[in-house]
Amino acid sequence: MGADGNAALVLLGGEAASAPLQELDRIGFPLLAALLHAESTAIVSAGLAAEARNALARAASLASALDAARSELARSLAEADRLNRALRELNTTLEERVAERTRQLEAEMAQRREVEAALAQAQKMEALGHLTGGVAHDFNNLLTGVSGSLALMRRRIEQGRVGEIGRYIDTAAAAAGRAAVLTHRLLAFSRRQPLEPKPVDLNRLVAGITELLHRSLGETIELEGVLAARLWRVEVDAGQMENALLNLAVNARDAMPDGGKLTIETRNTYLDEAYAKAFSEVRPGQYIEVSVSDTGYGMPPEVADRVFEPFFTTKPIGQGTGLGLSQVYGFVKQSSGHVRIYSEVGRGTTIKVYLPRFHGEDAPEDTPDRQAALGGSAGETVLVVEDEAVVRAFSCEVLRELGYQVLEAGDAEAALRLLAQEERVDLLFTDVVLPGGRTGRELAEEAVRRVPGIKVLYTTGYARNAIVHHGRLDPGVRLLTKPFTFEDLATQVRDALDGSA
Ligand SMILES: Nc1ncnc2c1ncn2[C@@H]1O[C@H](COP(=O)(O)OP(=O)(O)OP(=O)(O)O)[C@@H](O)[C@H]1O
Ligand SMILES: [Mg+2]
Repeated sequence: MGADGNAALVLLGGEAASAPLQELDRIGFPLLAALLHAESTAIVSAGLAAEARNALARAASLASALDAARSELARSLAEADRLNRALRELNTTLEERVAERTRQLEAEMAQRREVEAALAQAQKMEALGHLTGGVAHDFNNLLTGVSGSLALMRRRIEQGRVGEIGRYIDTAAAAAGRAAVLTHRLLAFSRRQPLEPKPVDLNRLVAGITELLHRSLGETIELEGVLAARLWRVEVDAGQMENALLNLAVNARDAMPDGGKLTIETRNTYLDEAYAKAFSEVRPGQYIEVSVSDTGYGMPPEVADRVFEPFFTTKPIGQGTGLGLSQVYGFVKQSSGHVRIYSEVGRGTTIKVYLPRFHGEDAPEDTPDRQAALGGSAGETVLVVEDEAVVRAFSCEVLRELGYQVLEAGDAEAALRLLAQEERVDLLFTDVVLPGGRTGRELAEEAVRRVPGIKVLYTTGYARNAIVHHGRLDPGVRLLTKPFTFEDLATQVRDALDGSA
């Protein structure tokens, strides 16, 4: 049997199937063997053909699938290409658009800067106009006094009534004197007055003018001095300092037409870096604080913002020049000091003057630095309630830095909402005077009712004695007076948290 037949047999049944054919061949049936072999070969080739057809069909379908895939791929590639191009285009137009918008914004900003500069210039001109107008107005009055008197003197001399000229001389001299006072106040405001600074004990200075103050204030106004023991000395022009206190006292008197109380308080204090940062122009260091508080009608913020402007006055013509506080401001600045004003309509005003400590003889003390020991422990939460944004931001920042959890609110209602929501509030730190009806004290009473064990620390712009003595708080409450420093706040908050409720 040929190799083909064997191969066919192998296909049909393997080596085992070819054995019987060989046996037939060997035993003498070669024809039968050959027939069988031919038959098996035919069967095999038929099977092979079918197999081949199947394979061909499969190959064809595979080929067409492959073809479809290839064209799909080509389409995808083309799409990707198109997208790529679009993206590139978008990128370039985007860059152009961004550049265009930037140019526009720059132009707008330049325009805005111009407008702002023009506005600042206009405001400066207005202030200058106000100032020159004020000076001109006052000087005209005074000059009228002088030149009018001179004219009258000439007439009287011509009339031979020489005996009468004495009083015109007096009038002219008085007007000239007032003019001198005016220029003096202007110089004070422009910080160009000649000062004679000397080491001064402010307690003694205040005591020295008490009599004068009593007389200026009249009978309906009570005067109280709260003078700190061991007050540091300052280096100022004593005469100008007295003048400044007198100006403040007279303003206070004018704000209390129906009587009231004037408190003058002195204390040593330290204005720290954080405070200096919050209120520019202040150099950190040791200061003596002199505060003058009244229980008068106070002033709205729009007035308080302008009181240091020369010739700004709310008093009727002839009753105020509007130079009093400008003079105080100029003097304090010229003496390297700082002045702050706290006022609430209907409640009163406190003006605080800070003058740097004079170190001439006393050895400089180290400023206390307890900060490290003053931090909050885990989770201790302070609720800060303060309507003045700057003060609130400052307080919150200090407390956060000290490690407390801090919640903040601008008024009593917001504070009560927070108290209702929060799981833990250890201390309420609130301004005494709050907007919107409820005062800090009422808020604190409510908080103590709602949160058993909560501690309370008040703050106020009023001098401590003014606020406690004028019946707004009970003596013995914890009160931190504004402006306070990092150190003040840290100490008071720690003490309040550690003390009994
Ligand atoms: N203690 C105060 N309480 C309420 N308002 C005040 C107080 N001090 C100053 N003011 C307001 O500030 C304005 C400016 O005060 P300033 O002392 O500069 O001028 P004046 O008192 O009006 O005039 P002058 O001091 O020249 O007599 C006052 O007109 C007043 O409106
Ligand atoms: Mg005044």
